[in-house]
Amino acid sequence: MSIQKTNKIWRNGKLIDWDDAQIHVLSHVVHYGSSVFEGVRCYKLPYGPAIFRAEEHMSRLLDSAKIYRMPCDYTVEQLVKGMDDLIAANQTWPCYIRPIIFRGYGEIGVNPLKSPVETYIANMPWGKYLGEDPDAGVSVCVSSWTRMAPNTLPALAKAGANYMNSQLIKMEALSNGYAEGIALDANGLVSEGSGENLFVVHKGRIFTTPIANSVLEGITRDTIMQIARDLGYEVVEQAMPRELLYIADELFFTGTAAEIAPIGAVDKIQIGDGRIGPISKAIRNAFFDILEGRAEDRRGWLHRVPTAKAE
Ligand SMILES: Cc1ncc(COP(=O)(O)O)c(C=O)c1O
Repeated sequence: MSIQKTNKIWRNGKLIDWDDAQIHVLSHVVHYGSSVFEGVRCYKLPYGPAIFRAEEHMSRLLDSAKIYRMPCDYTVEQLVKGMDDLIAANQTWPCYIRPIIFRGYGEIGVNPLKSPVETYIANMPWGKYLGEDPDAGVSVCVSSWTRMAPNTLPALAKAGANYMNSQLIKMEALSNGYAEGIALDANGLVSEGSGENLFVVHKGRIFTTPIANSVLEGITRDTIMQIARDLGYEVVEQAMPRELLYIADELFFTGTAAEIAPIGAVDKIQIGDGRIGPISKAIRNAFFDILEGRAEDRRGWLHRVPTAKAE
């Protein structure tokens, strides 16, 4: 989906015009992938816009920056306020929010430490990521590309460079007629999709891969684990062999972009009847009941955005 422009972008604490959010071609990030970022959704609640798990996203952003020794001048609270100010200024919701911290224009060599750290936040309208029929399972493949091996690129950091691996997984899947690819880790165990965590329903229990299998510790993943347990299901973080995917009763992806996306087939082996299964559906309904204001937000996952226009 092409980017839909809004008016303002937050840059280092100030709102600037969308068209002024430019960087130099010799910025460190362009050459060496030195960025960390987030993908956040703001939903439209009956009372107005609300950012889903705003603090957790900003805290993961600062953790990613810490891993890469990027000093960020802003706290979680300031970054959350940055998202608030941006949404109020652009008057756009529901929306997708893209905060990013990167190494800017400074030195041409690999050493990042002399290039300035810049922080930006943008927001824009964005619809469904994987398919428009929410009940239809997407067709996916197991990728021939492997996720980053431990101690190479850190999977817990949501870093721009990791998404070169994601791009290989995604392009291979698309060019072979699949909607998405599931990658294995360096030991051949299930890891995750190119931009989503993975859940497997098998014999009434719910499994997801632990963080040691080269996954991003998804905020939706955490949300779904809590919702599933509230609904009385047993949720197990467990390393999984590839073949468990083929014999699963239900499979689904989770992520900020994908939300909850049922998987209908893996490598052309059908899962269930190819559509969302009953356990996935119960979890998805409970998730959207919160996001659409039908159920109480007991854990304070929704951050209400003050909508008075910021200058
Ligand atoms: C590689 C990868 N795994 C998992 C996720 C899901 O994470 P979250 O639920 O925090 O969006 C994402 C999306 O951000 C991702 O890019």
